Amino acid sequence: MTSIDFDAIPRARLPALLRAMPKAELHLHIEGSLEPELIFRLARRNGVALAYPSVEALRAAYAFTDLQSFLDIYYAGASVLLKEEDFFDLGWAYFERAAADNIVHAEIFFDPQTHTARGVTIGAVIQGLSHACRRAHAELGISAKLILCFLRHLSEDDALATLDAALPYRHHFIGVGLDSGERGNPPEKFARVFARARAAGLHLVAHAGEEGPPEYIRAALDVLGAERIDHGVRCTDDPDLVERLARERTPLTVCPLSNVKLCVFPTLADHNLPALLGAGLCATINSDDPAYFGGYLNQNFVETFAALPQLSARDAYRLARNSFEASFAPAEDKARWIAALDHAFAHA
Ligand code: ADE
Ligand code: ZN
Repeated sequence: MTSIDFDAIPRARLPALLRAMPKAELHLHIEGSLEPELIFRLARRNGVALAYPSVEALRAAYAFTDLQSFLDIYYAGASVLLKEEDFFDLGWAYFERAAADNIVHAEIFFDPQTHTARGVTIGAVIQGLSHACRRAHAELGISAKLILCFLRHLSEDDALATLDAALPYRHHFIGVGLDSGERGNPPEKFARVFARARAAGLHLVAHAGEEGPPEYIRAALDVLGAERIDHGVRCTDDPDLVERLARERTPLTVCPLSNVKLCVFPTLADHNLPALLGAGLCATINSDDPAYFGGYLNQNFVETFAALPQLSARDAYRLARNSFEASFAPAEDKARWIAALDHAFAHA
């Protein structure tokens, strides 16, 4: 990093550099990458009736006021996913876009309960996605891993049953997470299932501090043992917590376009990413649910940097480097990707 002259990189060069630099995506719900065109294709293939007459009508409904207003339409969209091949097609469509964005490593969330509640077997979900991950590695050179998320609006018993059903497929996923409606569903509700996942040797992450208060971030760390916090942007309501996150180098997987679409911040120009980086936090940029929020990873980077002129080439490097350091990849892979990142900036 010391040999890179960040001040010599003109701001006009940043969009191209943001697009070209190698990066990892650590907060992507695969069901949130389900584009309207694929929803309609799968609905036809599987004979599923949709509440919208056309792709355009469905897209026009993507106007959200908060997290719950999004989740209602997001779970409805996922209803077209029935067979193992549907999950493969979903995963593969994302990986083709990821390759175009120079993503070299992706840790992808999936929500099995959204599908098992409709009678889909957990094996079809996991094996379809896992097949897409293997093909992404073989054909696109992307290192792709799966993280199973529990839906926090459902009971802990449901999460425990889901983990039990998933454990025969343990070798297909690297960790567990916690997503869905945050308000009124604190991390404490899932203490037992996270303890069991930890005992199975799985990595632990949790959404916290997206809409919920800083106490949820503390509980995700202290009660669940989360290694990364997904979103976490509301940590800035609690300066002691910010100081702790910086000291412990707990990564935050921040999703700028998502935060604006779900009204966490009024505009990108109001986003607290510069404050998070300024406080020395290990923040990363991610796309969350790109089919619903107006863009994949490079779009998040380019729009965020355009809206926040205080972000510099040094910040771009830091964000990409953080994405590798915060990943659960082996140290030798991280070192290789960081060397490629250094090369991209040294020749910018
Ligand atoms: N599931 C998909 N996207 C989510 C988000 N932004 N927050 C919580 N749960 C989600
Ligand atoms: Zn999310």
